[in-house]
Amino acid sequence: EEKMPLDAAIITASDKGSKGLREDESGAKVQEMLEAAGYTVAEKVILPDEQHAIEHKMRSFGDRGIALVVTTGGTGFSVRDVTPEATLAVCERLAPGIPEAMRALSMQVTHRAMLSRAQAGIYKRTLIVNLPGSRKAVEECLSFVLPELLHGIEILR
Ligand code: MTE
Repeated sequence: EEKMPLDAAIITASDKGSKGLREDESGAKVQEMLEAAGYTVAEKVILPDEQHAIEHKMRSFGDRGIALVVTTGGTGFSVRDVTPEATLAVCERLAPGIPEAMRALSMQVTHRAMLSRAQAGIYKRTLIVNLPGSRKAVEECLSFVLPELLHGIEILR
């Protein structure tokens, strides 16, 4: 029996990171965690906090049939934080339970979790999940939801 190929892509939304002014520790952390969970990371990109650039990349991953797109960064209250808006623009169906779980479980770590506007949803056969930007938040949020994503992805394929 053939195992389902689990391919993933990572988008880091960071003005500084995209200019090479900051090392992308959060994207690297996402990659490490996805690979440990059995995913193959097909592509990892750093984009400035520009809604149209983020949307374009999400759609291109979806059009390629990538199973999972994880974003990190741009979910807060800064005027430059537009990752949730890009996600809402691209997704055909939302999966609010994922960010609900992320925030509920994160609230047990820091009440600042309520300040993340992260979204999740489906474009074609691709699940898109937003994470906050810090390495610590990535570690926490992804560990809360990653184990359950596989079941959703299997249904979606
Ligand atoms: N969630 C977890 N689990 N751990 C964290 O440290 N940081 C919060 C929140 N979510 C945090 C978290 C903070 S301080 C902010 S401002 C928001 O995520 C948005 O982060 P972002 O702007 O980097 O996306």
